[in-house]
Amino acid sequence: MNDDPTILLTPPGRELLSRLAAAGAGQAGESASLALAERLRREYPAALVAAAMSQRELRRAAQAKFSRAADMLFTRAGYEQSSGEAIARYRAGRLGHAARIADLCCGIGGDLIALAGASDVLAVDRDEAHAKLARYNAAVYGRADRVRAVAADVRDVGLAGVDAVFIDPARRAGPGTASAPQARRYRAGTSEPPLDWCVARAGTVPAVCVKAAPGIPEGLVPHAWEAEFIAESRDLKEAVLWSPSLVTAPAAPGRGPRRATVIVPAGAGGATGSHTLVARAGDPVPLREPGEYLLDPNPAVTRAGLVEDLARQLGDDTAKIDPQIAFLTLDRDARTPFARTLRVEYSAPWHEKAFARRLRELDIGAVDIRRRGLAGDVDQIRRRLKLSGANRATVVITRVSDRPWGLICTA
Ligand SMILES: C[S@@+](CC[C@H](N)C(=O)[O-])C[C@H]1O[C@@H](n2cnc3c(N)ncnc32)[C@H](O)[C@@H]1O
Repeated sequence: MNDDPTILLTPPGRELLSRLAAAGAGQAGESASLALAERLRREYPAALVAAAMSQRELRRAAQAKFSRAADMLFTRAGYEQSSGEAIARYRAGRLGHAARIADLCCGIGGDLIALAGASDVLAVDRDEAHAKLARYNAAVYGRADRVRAVAADVRDVGLAGVDAVFIDPARRAGPGTASAPQARRYRAGTSEPPLDWCVARAGTVPAVCVKAAPGIPEGLVPHAWEAEFIAESRDLKEAVLWSPSLVTAPAAPGRGPRRATVIVPAGAGGATGSHTLVARAGDPVPLREPGEYLLDPNPAVTRAGLVEDLARQLGDDTAKIDPQIAFLTLDRDARTPFARTLRVEYSAPWHEKAFARRLRELDIGAVDIRRRGLAGDVDQIRRRLKLSGANRATVVITRVSDRPWGLICTA
């Protein structure tokens, strides 16, 4: 059970929170915080001061996820497990046609806030504090009238009349983690409730969406369900499983429907919004040595197995550099939300001394080394390169048609 921060909703609790908010950024730093807590403990009960101090810290951290974090309430576990606003809004958009949704395992309400933007939502969590906070946080966004929050085990809740279920189970270390293969651990329950239970809801509810870890083994994606891999910028966040009635992606050859989605939050650079990629029929993508540009696909694209589909989308002048390696190449400056584009300054079979010389000639003193498909310690390589110079570059060490290959690139 998590500590219940709703003691902060009492009049002294609210007063304390607003005093702390007023103390604001000027009080940053551990010793300033300790001194502040010391002063406040002379006026308020120690437990209330402790709850308020930890809430202040959680609210600060949560600003990265929620635009109204300063008014919300969190438990630490609830904050850490919560979905951020941008990704939750995107997922809720795919469920927006459902009039009544059940948010099973609602936590502190990260997803609930977004789901209640367009639907009535039954929110369920067996942690009483979370059920309370989910409703409270929905109210912060002016959406409480669309929410009924219940503290219960999700297995005990009737779902009659519900059009769609969203489940974000708690993740936990699976039993026998060292010995059990990944797929068996998942089945046995690396999540609570286990994945099998979540998927089985599709037997009684018309539409089911399950949030899962991005490393979910391919074999556990249920037949005819869509697996969508979602990244925020280049940070791969999750796999989302959509039951057959919610599938909108075509089947990828030899697998089921797959989708890669990249969400670019406001202020992250690039075109803000969501960009989504699905399988694209066509000829196999050709192989060739790196040309003028190298494209490093977003991890969501790689994880969804859609690298060749991205190449087809970019045009038939796009090639792979190796059958197994997820870099693409072409001779024009192609920009896509699904990959980072690098300009190739030098490309040759990898010989460390030759590359060290070339880097000196190019006056490159700082490098970001990316190694893919080859062994070797990046820090040791960096030391041996003995860099000095005014310019920056990315050094890619990889394989080209199975030969060790190096590239010096700029953004
Ligand atoms: C990953 S968190 C949910 C986060 C939420 N989607 C958000 O964005 O804030 C999982 C939640 O599932 C709850 N939970 C785990 N097993 C449960 C069960 N059997 N019944 C009800 N709630 C459960 C935990 O208490 C936890 O709050």
